[in-house]
Order: sequence, then structure tokens, then C-alpha cells
Amino acid sequence: METPYNNLLIIYYSGTGNSKRVSEWIADEADKQGLKTYISSYHQFDPLSVAEFSGKTLIGFFSATHGFNMPHSMLKFLFRFEILKNSDVFIGNTRAGMKLWKLFMPGLSGIAMYFPALIMFFKGYKIRAMYPVDLPSNWISLHPGVQKKIAVSMVGHCEKLTRNFAIKVLSGKRVFLRSFVLLPLDILVAPIAFGYYFVGRYILAKTFVANYNCNNCGLCIEQCPTKSIILSHNRPYWKFSCESCMKCMNYCPERAIETAHSMVFLLLFVLTVVINPYLSTKVTDFVAVAFRGSRIAFESFYFMVQWSVALLLFYLGYKLLHLLMRFPLINRLITYTSLTTWKFWRRYKIPRKASVSDK
Ligand SMILES: Cc1cc2nc3c(=O)[nH]c(=O)nc-3n(C[C@H](O)[C@H](O)[C@H](O)COP(=O)(O)O)c2cc1C
Ligand code: SF4
Ligand code: SF4
Repeated sequence: METPYNNLLIIYYSGTGNSKRVSEWIADEADKQGLKTYISSYHQFDPLSVAEFSGKTLIGFFSATHGFNMPHSMLKFLFRFEILKNSDVFIGNTRAGMKLWKLFMPGLSGIAMYFPALIMFFKGYKIRAMYPVDLPSNWISLHPGVQKKIAVSMVGHCEKLTRNFAIKVLSGKRVFLRSFVLLPLDILVAPIAFGYYFVGRYILAKTFVANYNCNNCGLCIEQCPTKSIILSHNRPYWKFSCESCMKCMNYCPERAIETAHSMVFLLLFVLTVVINPYLSTKVTDFVAVAFRGSRIAFESFYFMVQWSVALLLFYLGYKLLHLLMRFPLINRLITYTSLTTWKFWRRYKIPRKASVSDK
């Protein structure tokens, strides 16, 4: 098929390789059509690398979905993106698909494509396509990793669909159908996207710990795209800027990174059973005096107070846990009460080849 484009630039955000692999499939189709192609992760992108592009360029932004939205650092990257103005753009996202028996089920994007598409539209780029790809979920803090056989089958299925998409978009066609199929559900979960963006992701950042298997190799610190792990008291410590992309947890050669589930449950219990009811009465009293009982004032003020208190609690709780993890007994207790430590709770990174025999 004839292509109106001379160049393809793809920038991706990928923790465990899904979005990177999808970007590579599209770049491969562009290569076959003789386009000058450049592909990079958002955090390593150098605008000078596309300085030699001449003629018409198609730009693709492909990202994992986090909390029904595009991850914060990728959104920040889009806000700052200024080069190749007026180019055609497509927005893609990979999300948590499933395979039930022989049926491939979709994940849910929420605003993960619409919002970035709006940003780029208002910046003067022309939106040619939005495309979701339903690969295995990598959210290992929440559920076990999918079995290898299922992952391989899902990857093979998605590769076929994505290559077809690539051929269409590279031929200059507009492709939007798949992105709008779940629109009613996407709208329904949009408020959760805001909750995740302003609260959830900060709390999740404070749930990772390195257990006694950690040998301080430094790989997680070196590889984190957001530079969110530091060495504190001689062990990895996660900062609020961590976006839970799951790279460190899935790539640690010692399988030493866990989600401290027992700490999370304890802190959530304290928050919901002790702190929040207490705050509710105090805030009601305060709002009754300061804002004459206005409902909107109560809701906004209460949200701000709850948000600050929850973050402070997780910050202090996590800091304390970090110090206590020095003691072997506590370290083992936290490890054994973390679901991620058990064998059945697999890790996930995209299989290297769509073949069951692949390691
Ligand atoms: C913190 C977090 C939040 C996620 N939120 C969603 C979501 O809202 N909807 C969805 O379909 N998948 C969600 N996922 C699944 C990932 O988007 C999906 O597995 C993606 O393909 C991972 O891509 P990557 O390997 O390129 O990082 C989430 C994963 C993580 C780790
Ligand atoms: S990659 Fe694993 S073993 Fe290496 S420093 Fe990080 S947690 Fe420790
Ligand atoms: S600390 Fe780990 S999960 Fe968080 S952003 Fe870095 S690599 Fe991803």
C-alpha cells in the first residue's frame, strides 16, 4: 500500500516491555515500506536524533495504561513536546487484556487515549488514530502474573492486530473504531482516573520494599525511568515519584522486590477505621463555622485534608518500615506476609518471542 509518509517517529512509555514491543512491530512495518524510522523511550528521547527527518512525518506515542490514564511522566513529556509541529500523530495504549478459554478480553483505557489526543490536538498536531492493544497485565502488586502460555498466545494475537493497524495508519487512513468501542465504560471510570492520578499513584509508590535477598546490585536504581529509587541506609528506598511501572519488581535478578501487603492493609485499616471518621467530625465542625456548612466547601476541603493525611501516613509508615527492615525478623515477617513473595504469584515481562518454547 502507498504511504504518504517519509518518516516515522515512535516514543513509548514501557515498564515491562508491552508498549515497547508494540512500538517495535509498528516500526518494523514502517521499515518494510522504506520510511526513515526512529523509536525511543520517552525518558531517553533526544530531539536531535530526528533532526535529519525531511518530508512528511507520522508520530506515534505508545504507552502503558496506569489507573485509566496515561502515566504522569509521559503526560508531562507530551505537554513539553514541541518538535515537528503540524505532523500527523497517533496515540496508542497497551492495557490489561485477558484470555478466558479462547476468548481475548479487552482492558479498559479510561481517559488514557482521549486526554493525550486532546493535548496534542490543542498543540497543533493532527490526530490520525487512537489504538488500544490488549496485552497481559503487568500489575503484579495487585494480582499474580499471567501464565507464560497465555501471555505468549496473547502476544501473538496482538502482534497480528497491531501490524494490521500499522499498515492502515501508515497508508494515511484514520483509525479510531477500536478506541471508541468501550466509550461508555471509559466515561464511567474517568473519575477513578482522577483519584488514581492525585492520590492512588503516590500511595502505591510507598508499597515497594527490597527483602533479604537484595544484594545491592543497584540494577533497579540504574534502570528506573523516573529515577525514583535511592539507596538509604544501604538498601533501596522508593520515592513518591515512583509510577509503579513495575520494571524494577519484574527485572530484579534476585526477585527481591515485594509489595508490602501487610503494611498496606494495616495503614488502610488505620486510615479508614480510626483517622477518617475522626477527621470527618472535625472537618464538619470546621466547615460549619468557616464556610457556613456549604456542601461543596465540605467535599473539597475534606478531600484535601484526607489526601494530605493519607500521604503523610504512608510517608511516615513507609519510612518506619524501611528502618525496621534492617532487622532480620521484621524483614522476614514483611516478606512472608507479602503475596508477591510466593511462587504462584508470578512476575511478568513480555515473552521474548511469541513462542511457548521461549525462555
Ligand atoms: C499501576 C498500574 C496501573 C494499571 N492500570 C490499568 C488500567 O487502568 N487499565 C488497564 O487496562 N490496564 C492497566 N494496567 C495494566 C498495564 O497498562 C498493561 O499491562 C500494560 O500493557 C503494561 O505495559 P508495559 O509493559 O509497556 O509497561 C495497569 C498496570 C499498572 C502497573
Ligand atoms: S535489583 Fe534487586 S537485588 Fe539489585 S539492588 Fe535492586 S532490589 Fe536489590
Ligand atoms: S521505582 Fe520501579 S516501579 Fe517505580 S517507576 Fe521506577 S522502575 Fe517503575
